[in-house]
Amino acid sequence: MDTINALSVQLAPHNPRGLLLHNPVIAASGTFGYGDEMSGVCDIQRLGAIICKGTTLAPREGNKQPRIAETPSGMLNAIGLQNMGVEALIATKSKIWAGWRVPVIVNIAGESLEEYAELARTLEGVPGISGLEINISCPNVASGCMEFGANPDSAARVTSAVKNATSLPVIVKLTPNACDIVAVAKAVAGAGSDAISLINTLKGMAIDTKKRKPILGNKTGGLSGPAIKPIALYMVYQVSSAVDVPVIGGGGIMTSQDALEFILAGATAVEVGTATLVNPAAATDIVEGLESYVAANNVKFAELIGAAQR
Ligand SMILES: Cc1cc2nc3c(=O)[nH]c(=O)nc-3n(C[C@H](O)[C@H](O)[C@H](O)COP(=O)(O)O)c2cc1C
Repeated sequence: MDTINALSVQLAPHNPRGLLLHNPVIAASGTFGYGDEMSGVCDIQRLGAIICKGTTLAPREGNKQPRIAETPSGMLNAIGLQNMGVEALIATKSKIWAGWRVPVIVNIAGESLEEYAELARTLEGVPGISGLEINISCPNVASGCMEFGANPDSAARVTSAVKNATSLPVIVKLTPNACDIVAVAKAVAGAGSDAISLINTLKGMAIDTKKRKPILGNKTGGLSGPAIKPIALYMVYQVSSAVDVPVIGGGGIMTSQDALEFILAGATAVEVGTATLVNPAAATDIVEGLESYVAANNVKFAELIGAAQR
């Protein structure tokens, strides 16, 4: 983690601990498990970082099946934050992560400010964890989470609560299901977020015309994949010109060309989600594609960040 190369990016420049990535390609939460499950299908150590499945204080069973529905150019999911809970994560995963070159960021979700702060306190000082991503954007749980991300005041309050409970770099993950995502971004940056990631999924649904019922057990879900890319790209463009902390862009990134669009729009790094469900090596392929682009065009990576804004 101490070497700089052509694609290195610093995601927490204002945090004494920093969050230096070898490259800007991050496996998005919920699509890469805890990383270890993926080590047989791609070289996970080639990634810039891995963000694990959304983690809550207590284990969660998740929502009723079906939880996934394919849609044109995308998919709906309503997993409902199924996860092992923070204590099991510390007991079983952090020791594995501690031996890795690739940094692991834990995505945390709660139903109250106290739960978010408690999660951050519990993860403080645990080896193998390089940062926290605060999920205030999950559309698939009945209470908490997205409610915090939908307005600037509650988003700022949860950011402060977590920042006060940890020395780890903190990334706040925003929802596109907010009236004014730029206002939310400014509020969380003002509350001390080290970086901002966007976008989580867009709330949507699909209906089975034979059964005349919603397809998903949860009725509604979160839309991801190429269908959301133009929306995500525009939001990244807007947010990155409004805040002075690094922005991590994502939503529908399938190829290195897509990743490059987000970087040119202003993202310092990118998150790759649904693409991994189609091709488990999608994120590592994107690392290679970006390396080739920088070499072929003889350009410094830093010069690409936000180039389309100038
Ligand atoms: C099956 C699935 C599970 C997800 N679980 C989480 C999660 O636990 N926490 C979170 O912050 N985002 C979660 N997401 C959202 C992704 O991390 C990502 O932000 C979103 O899907 C948009 O990117 P994409 O179009 O590249 O997938 C999930 C997405 C999918 C498809």
